Amino acid sequence: MVNRVPLLAGNWKMNKGPLEAENFVKDLASTIHDNESLSKAVKARIVEIGVFPPFVSLERAKKGIFISGIPMSLGAQNMHWEDNGAFTGEVSGEMLKEVGCKYVILGHSERRHIFREKNEMIGKKMKKALSIGLKSILCVGETLEERDGGITESVVEEQLEEAFRGLTGPLNQEGNVIIAYEPVWAIGTGRKASDEDAQRMCLFIRKFIGDKFGFTAAQNVRILYGGSVKPDNTKGLMSQADVDGALIGGASLDVESFLGIVKNTIDVLL
Ligand code: PGA
Repeated sequence: MVNRVPLLAGNWKMNKGPLEAENFVKDLASTIHDNESLSKAVKARIVEIGVFPPFVSLERAKKGIFISGIPMSLGAQNMHWEDNGAFTGEVSGEMLKEVGCKYVILGHSERRHIFREKNEMIGKKMKKALSIGLKSILCVGETLEERDGGITESVVEEQLEEAFRGLTGPLNQEGNVIIAYEPVWAIGTGRKASDEDAQRMCLFIRKFIGDKFGFTAAQNVRILYGGSVKPDNTKGLMSQADVDGALIGGASLDVESFLGIVKNTIDVLL
């Protein structure tokens, strides 16, 4: 029996500057401290809590985590595929590691659709992150038009193919890749995919990993769902066999709603 610890990853997007990030992390931690059962579960690492602040807030968030003593992982929302050079406005994976990041989100739909990131660029970033030991959270998902056109699976399959092109493994040693299924129409809309849809697509992704990298990689890879996850829809989602956590936007910006998701996940697990 494989134990995939659910990851509850708060993607803050372009919210919370350095001071607010540090204070938020401290507030989150002290609320966890004050709740004995929650604190016990988080310290026992039954779930993994992750925060993904904007680049400029990473260092202060890291400080807040360190001071708080509550285990929380830190990640960034994007990176460039080169180590350094003439890439105005970009940040490299090595820089993220230096500031204390364990994770980096790659190919988020806002990067794909607003900033025109192509599958090929995301593939280069994946390779770089893997080569430097930064764990990536690869986001995939279809638009409403693609869904209505009945091509959800082929769109997701192509995104996965391109992201993993040229990679032969080893995959998922020490959980070096996480995948987030995030249907674009569910992000920030309040319209979460049904639990059955989330499960179906997470299983589809797991099968893809199995075909490409083998049974063990498929068993070990954590697959998250993202798109309008809130405390009141967490339990149904987290009860699905192939959903190993959530990428949370709006609801991760508020201590109460983020912890509501954490608590409801723990309730499903215990
Ligand atoms: P949302 O965002 O929870 O606000 O829908 C999810 C995401 O974009 O990762």
